[in-house]
Amino acid sequence: MTVPIAERMSRIGTETAFAVSLEAGTLARQGKKIYPFHLGDMNIITPQNVMDAAIDAMKKGKTGYCPTAGIPELREALAKDIAASHKISLTSDNITIQPGGKPTIGKFIMTAMNPGDKVLYPNPGYPIYESQIEFHGGKGIPYGYKEAQNGFVLDMDAIYQGVKAGAKILIYNNYQNPTGASSPKAEMEELARLCVKSDIFVLADEAYYDIRYGGEPVSIASFPGMAERTVMLYTFSKKFAMTGWRLGSAVGPAQFIEYISKINVNDESCSNHFVQWAALAGLKGSNEGPAIILATLKERRDVLVDMLNAIPGVKCFRPEATFYLFPNVTGVMKRKKIDNVEELRKACLYETGVSFCTRRHFGRPLPGETDQYIRFAYSGIDVDQIREGMKKLTDFLK
Ligand SMILES: Cc1ncc(COP(=O)(O)O)c(C=O)c1O
Repeated sequence: MTVPIAERMSRIGTETAFAVSLEAGTLARQGKKIYPFHLGDMNIITPQNVMDAAIDAMKKGKTGYCPTAGIPELREALAKDIAASHKISLTSDNITIQPGGKPTIGKFIMTAMNPGDKVLYPNPGYPIYESQIEFHGGKGIPYGYKEAQNGFVLDMDAIYQGVKAGAKILIYNNYQNPTGASSPKAEMEELARLCVKSDIFVLADEAYYDIRYGGEPVSIASFPGMAERTVMLYTFSKKFAMTGWRLGSAVGPAQFIEYISKINVNDESCSNHFVQWAALAGLKGSNEGPAIILATLKERRDVLVDMLNAIPGVKCFRPEATFYLFPNVTGVMKRKKIDNVEELRKACLYETGVSFCTRRHFGRPLPGETDQYIRFAYSGIDVDQIREGMKKLTDFLK
């Protein structure tokens, strides 16, 4: 018998970073020492108060279904927390709890986009945007990033062109995976003005809003006229080191959020009940846990950036946010006479055990793109291992 596979399945994408993980895992099982920089998972333990609250909730019987949009206590607390950190006004009606940050992407696309609609999305960027746009019959218009003095900035020309070409939806990931880009205030202001003027609806993927090492985070939703046209992706995954617990939220205009909750009923009924009580304890508890997580990540960032920049032919910014680095390795590749960045990745993995992703794992390179980049995630590797792995990589590449 032929298994029936619907036509739309030919359009669904994936995260090819998981293939790198598989390759590194196979080598590890064969006894090779691996330094894992490929996945944005975390090897930092969830704060104690969150774990205690989960156990307590289970013991109190919070193990059945709960409201599809989330327990009222968590929706209310999250509305308050995000209103304060974003300087906007929100109520529970603006919040629908999700099993992770990721589900907000597909549900946003399903709710906002008709087949054939054009959607601007970042490339290099999180690969799920393109996958969901194409899966649901939309037309993705990629925009890139450019190197500036202190970091990557949006290619605003590409965004203007996309709007001119008829895009009515923008996916905007500030603070960005994989480049670590933080929009300067003026850039965000310009983007917000364009969205209001051209009636663009926005998904603001703020998965890394709280992973900031300096300064105050800013949300595009806080600019005039933006709150009513922005849906924010919120996640507990990074701030509370809860990647495997699967809890997040879609935050936005009440009428839109109601439809996302309708998808919740159809997809998963509700998010994990006792995990919601645990997340509530995280939100209401002291900031000690998140502060330790940030300090740990910052130390890793500084060691890694310094060691990368010490390799001749590597240029790496020191991002103020996220736990990703996107070093330019054009110089190394020229010196080593390697044309293909995947070849560089494999050589480093097999020779040194240092495992990272490349530009190719974050979308098809755009026309005119000549520089070569790799991506390091430092959320899943301790600082002594960073030093050890980077020493091997330096010896191999210098
Ligand atoms: C840009 C971006 N958005 C969303 C997510 C999804 O996060 P979650 O683990 O909460 O589903 C990730 C995870 O790595 C991400 O990098």
